[in-house]
Amino acid sequence: MKILLVGSGGREYAIALKLLAGPTPVKLFAAPGSDAIGELGVCLPFAVDDLEGIKGWAAEHRPDLSIIAPEGPLVAGLADGLRSMGLAVFGHDANTSRLEGSKSFAKDFMHRYGIPCAASVSVSELNNGEAIISTWTYGYPIVLKADGLAAGKGVVLAATEEEALETLRRFLDGQFGEASRTVLLEAPLFGMELSLHVLVDVDATHARYVMLPPCQDHKRIFDGDKGPNTGGMGAFGPIPFLKAEDITLLRDALVVPTVRGLQKEGLNARGVLFLGVMWTDQGPQLLEYNCRFGDPETQVLMQLLNEDLPQLLLEVAEGRLDRERVKLNPGCAISVVLAAEGYPDAPRKGVPIDVGTPSVTVIHAGTKMINGRWVTNGGRVINLSTHAGNLASARQRIEEGLESIHWVGMQYRKDIGLRALQHAEAGRSVRDPW
Ligand code: AMP
Ligand code: GLY
Repeated sequence: MKILLVGSGGREYAIALKLLAGPTPVKLFAAPGSDAIGELGVCLPFAVDDLEGIKGWAAEHRPDLSIIAPEGPLVAGLADGLRSMGLAVFGHDANTSRLEGSKSFAKDFMHRYGIPCAASVSVSELNNGEAIISTWTYGYPIVLKADGLAAGKGVVLAATEEEALETLRRFLDGQFGEASRTVLLEAPLFGMELSLHVLVDVDATHARYVMLPPCQDHKRIFDGDKGPNTGGMGAFGPIPFLKAEDITLLRDALVVPTVRGLQKEGLNARGVLFLGVMWTDQGPQLLEYNCRFGDPETQVLMQLLNEDLPQLLLEVAEGRLDRERVKLNPGCAISVVLAAEGYPDAPRKGVPIDVGTPSVTVIHAGTKMINGRWVTNGGRVINLSTHAGNLASARQRIEEGLESIHWVGMQYRKDIGLRALQHAEAGRSVRDPW
């Protein structure tokens, strides 16, 4: 199967490994890929936002399957463009991708379909926003969200009125260009956050989905959820204390109305939806939709899936997903991000990496090969991923793997999955305080 994979990071490397691991013979092309992905397939000289370049290549080479991993090209309409050539694409149309590309669009959608979520108001005028903040009754922090895509930096939890006003002014002033000329002011939700990925195949004639196991990301840079937010420092899944009835509740409260809403609004879906969920004392509430796989959640999901990935994604791409569930490996998977010195503010690039032969899976994210040597080339440099019978043994395996990898300034969290493990070992459920 000739496959085009759009993207270049750890998520894409993990997908590439999995595509090649199954029985289907795969010839992989990546746009733009990376030096590491280049060891698994052929890298093409097109950046993810070079829609014309990618479409031109696809028109000539006609891949059997195209997988668009990042949100940027999805929101910009790359899937629409490739599909209009008659190609099979795993990735949503631009209209559907607005669920991630516009937070106010997503919020209106949630309200239309009775999906539980935080109260919010959308603001484009400074005076109006200032008045709302000065009479705010939903409690603190006030959550301010740039409406459009802001490379994961468009959400601020403002602890004080001053911070909220200052953030509002910066956003409306165009901190993220057009993406922040509309701002969502949102009530804070408290509880346990989880990442729920759902494969969806929806058009006018059918509406089908398959839920993947809920995972949990760790957004802050330091142990104990301290320090600044990052793209994600590690993840694990499934969440050991979530019971079948909890998954059913996630399905009924969030997934089913989403899929129904997509069909009702004529929003075709051929890809994955990643629901950011806060499990509050009122039950699960939807924080946001993403129209793509999460990073580092994907690194976990690829360890858990016991499927021939090219065939599974092709089923979705061709609109013939028709199964109750996907096959999973038993136990638990984990992925720990090894980040560069200075991440997340100013990651140090070009630092040589010593990669031995760890007993776990090495996922390249921000690396580059220079003179035959891997060096750091981004914030999240490498992930170590593995799978074991349970979360405790998976954590243990990562610890062993860590012994054979090092570079100057390497930083990582030692507590990925620890809080959930302790919660489970204490016999607590998702309804107990987190
Ligand atoms: P988002 O970009 O929407 O995922 O937001 C980034 C992060 O902000 C989420 O992963 C949450 O941790 C946090 N967040 C978003 N909305 C809320 C909210 N209403 N209450 C509390 N935290 C939130
Ligand atoms: N891990 C969070 C994200 O991919 O947005």
